[in-house]
Amino acid sequence: MVNAYLDIGIQSRMNRIISPKDNRVVMLAIDHPYFQGPTTGLRDMSGTIRTLLPYCDCLMTTRGAVQSNISPGDLGSKPIMLRVSGGNSVLFEDLSDERLTVTIKEAIRMDAAGVAVSVFIGSSNQQRTILNLTDMINYSGEYGIPVLAVTAVGKDMARDLRYLALASRICQDAGARIIKTYYCEEFSKLVDWVAPTAVVVAGGKYSSPPDALGMAWNSVQAGAAGVDFGRNIFQDENPVGMIKAINAIVHGDHTVKEALDIYNDCLPGARKLE
Ligand code: R5P
Repeated sequence: MVNAYLDIGIQSRMNRIISPKDNRVVMLAIDHPYFQGPTTGLRDMSGTIRTLLPYCDCLMTTRGAVQSNISPGDLGSKPIMLRVSGGNSVLFEDLSDERLTVTIKEAIRMDAAGVAVSVFIGSSNQQRTILNLTDMINYSGEYGIPVLAVTAVGKDMARDLRYLALASRICQDAGARIIKTYYCEEFSKLVDWVAPTAVVVAGGKYSSPPDALGMAWNSVQAGAAGVDFGRNIFQDENPVGMIKAINAIVHGDHTVKEALDIYNDCLPGARKLE
């Protein structure tokens, strides 16, 4: 049985990230430049964050993005999921050689509600990245800060249930409080494997509003706590419509069709997506 007193800091921060009302979360991922530099849709990162922040429950981002693009006034009390691993760039094929890049003191100074570390299971740097995760869980556990594990997927790895459940279950055993992974067929089995740890789904490359909303719907219906989407929101021509539609699916259990109506209501002109 968990000692609730010892866990109170973690719980309180988890409640800031994942709404205790419905145990769901719309996390907005804007951390891409940490390895890919200039990113489509983030030319005016500050403006993008300011526009979308009111519609997300939590912003997943980096130390530099907060320093350079977010004023305390704009941030208000919105929780930050701070990325604390990195050290590579898209100029290398293999992105797996990450280290911890932010200290726990810095995360506390920034009032991070949680910290995020990527693991690259099956890569040449598998052990290092799992130890990055466990090191950060050891450091942050002392201060009651939950860790989100990102199951990063290399180019050669299949995004199937076997692989993603393996990676996610390893992250749970390491002590991650939230697991960010990709949607796959039979996703409810992955959620079952790691229950009661919360699972959020990454959006991946930009697809289309119907496809991305379909993935959000499938994910929460399979038991995910929500999504941590980036490009499918900020690279869309109608980012506010997109994040409002995602909110309706995650927090309102709206269907994809209903969510698309919300998206269309925000589209300029008389255009409509089916
Ligand atoms: C993954 O390791 C990073 O956190 C990504 O920046 C994040 O997953 C991107 O979100 P999306 O795939 O929805 O653009």
